[in-house]
Amino acid sequence: MNLAGRPARVSVWALGLLPLLALLWDFALDGLGPEPVERITHHTGKWALRMLLLCLAVTPLRRGLGWRTLQPHRRTLGLLAFTYASLHFATYLVFDLDFRFGELAEDVQKRPYITVGFATLALLALLAVTSTRGWMRRLGRRWTKLHRGVYLAAVGAPVHFAWSVKADLAEPLVYASVAGVLLALRLRPLTHRIGRSDANYATLPRSTKTGIGNPSGTKGETTEVW
Ligand code: HEM
Repeated sequence: MNLAGRPARVSVWALGLLPLLALLWDFALDGLGPEPVERITHHTGKWALRMLLLCLAVTPLRRGLGWRTLQPHRRTLGLLAFTYASLHFATYLVFDLDFRFGELAEDVQKRPYITVGFATLALLALLAVTSTRGWMRRLGRRWTKLHRGVYLAAVGAPVHFAWSVKADLAEPLVYASVAGVLLALRLRPLTHRIGRSDANYATLPRSTKTGIGNPSGTKGETTEVW
C-alpha cells in the first residue's frame, strides 16, 4: 500500500476525527459528565494541541528515521488541528458566551489566556486557508515564510493552556516540553537554510520547493514547514 497516497490521507483524516466521534458518542449517550461544556472545551482544546504537535513531529521523524511517507500527512494534521481549535472556540462562543460578541471582544482584550488562544486560532485559520496549491502558487516564496507561523502557533497553544489552568501546571508543562523539543529540532536546519543564498533557492525545481507535483509529496530541505 502506498502510505503517501490518497487512501492513506483519507485514513489519517478518519483516524484524526475519531476523538470527535468519541465525544459525539458520549454526548449521544449522555456520558459527558456533570460539566458537559467544560468536558467539550477541554477535549477539543487538547486534541487541537495534540494534532498541532503531531504535525510538527512529521519532519523530524522523516529526517531522523527516514519515514518519508509521513511527509504528505503534515497538511492533514495541520487541518485537523484547525478543525479541533475551531470546535473548541465554537463551544466557548455558543455555550459560554451565548453568542455575546461584545463579551468575546472584552475577553480577548482583558483575559490574557483568551488573547493568546484567539491569536493562535487566527494564525491557524490563516495557515489552513493558505494551505492549498493555489495559495502556494500565488504566494511563491512568501508562502514558506508565512507558514513558518506554525512555530508561533506551537508556542501560543501551550502558553494558552498553561495560562488557562488555575493550579496544577504539570500537564501543560508536558505539552510545552514536547513543543520545545520539536521547535529545537527545527532550529538548526532553519539557521542553515537562512544562510543559503537566494540564488540557490531560485534554481531548485518547483516540486522541491513546495512538494506539489512531487509524487512522494516530500519537500526539499529548503522549505520544510509544519
Ligand atoms: C479564541 C480562541 C480560544 C478560546 C476562546 C479558548 C478558550 C478556552 C477556554 C475557555 C478554556 C478552558 C479554561 C478553563 O478550564 O478554565 C481553554 C482551554 C484550553 N484551550 Fe483554548 N481557547 C482558544 C484557542 C485555543 C487554541 C487555538 C488551542 C490549541 C491549538 C487551545 C487549546 C486549549 C487547551 C489545550 C486547553 C486546556 C484544556 C484542559 O485543561 O484540559 N485553545 N480554552
